Amino acid sequence: MKVTVVGAGAVGASCAEYIAIKNFASEVVLLDIKEGYAEGKAMDLMQTASLNGFDTKIVGSTNDYSKTAGSDIVVITSGIPRKPGMTREELIGINAGIVKTVSSSLLEHSPDTIFIIVSNPMDTMTYLVHKTLDIPKNRIIGMGGALDSARFKYRLAEALAAPISDVDGMVIGGHSDKGMVPLIGHATRNSLKVSEFLSEERMSQVVEDTKVGGATLTKLLGTSAWYAPGAAVSGLVQAIACDQKKMFPCSTYLEGEYGLKDLCIGVPVILGKNGIEKVVQMELTAAEQAKMEESAAGVTKTNGLLDL
Ligand code: LAC
Repeated sequence: MKVTVVGAGAVGASCAEYIAIKNFASEVVLLDIKEGYAEGKAMDLMQTASLNGFDTKIVGSTNDYSKTAGSDIVVITSGIPRKPGMTREELIGINAGIVKTVSSSLLEHSPDTIFIIVSNPMDTMTYLVHKTLDIPKNRIIGMGGALDSARFKYRLAEALAAPISDVDGMVIGGHSDKGMVPLIGHATRNSLKVSEFLSEERMSQVVEDTKVGGATLTKLLGTSAWYAPGAAVSGLVQAIACDQKKMFPCSTYLEGEYGLKDLCIGVPVILGKNGIEKVVQMELTAAEQAKMEESAAGVTKTNGLLDL
């Protein structure tokens, strides 16, 4: 199993590290345009192998796509991250050009690969890849919901004063401060609805804190987060590599599911060796459906800024 991660910045390096630590891939190629940078990160990570107990080989490459040839899965993290006060949507101009070039170079060397898009604005970048590469939609996956759901569970555990392993919850919709739809009504603590434990007000607070999860970190760090995004990507990669048939909310091209079409947005999907093997059609309340539609309108508006 060969995985390529494009972008050796904080998010890309974190992806490579978590994939390696989980020890299911034979090779991870880390590629970056900055001379020597990916090679340096790969060497540093390889020197953790004996300490962390993994056998995955990590190889760095300065923009040499021939090194990525035959990748089963490719992860695109390249582009600029947001700075404090910026929305993910503001990155579109620069990142669209980068994602377009990177994705076509990757496909040239790995014609059967599965794409995981992380660059922001993620839903729009996933749509861009869908529109520019002529490949089946099951092979194009946007990573947002797995991360947002992890942040949701963190906030739920905090509100419940419970360990994170006690809680379950999912965030669907667009990967943006306004567009996320944390499904608080479905969230549970050991199968009991969280509404049994939390007031309406506290639940609203959890939802709001989840939606600005990335922005809160950007403010604290001066740039966007990397540990949780890296860990979330590694979960998707593992589900595909190990054919786990695991369910994650991911951004995927919809053709009528959830009453939405011609956009990529987060919905629950089953991930296995073929990428997105199924879109799970869950029942939403009228209020949740309305939020999903509002989120979709936001994503479609951002998609309109693409030069397709
Ligand atoms: C975040 C970026 C990866 O939410 O979108 O941290």
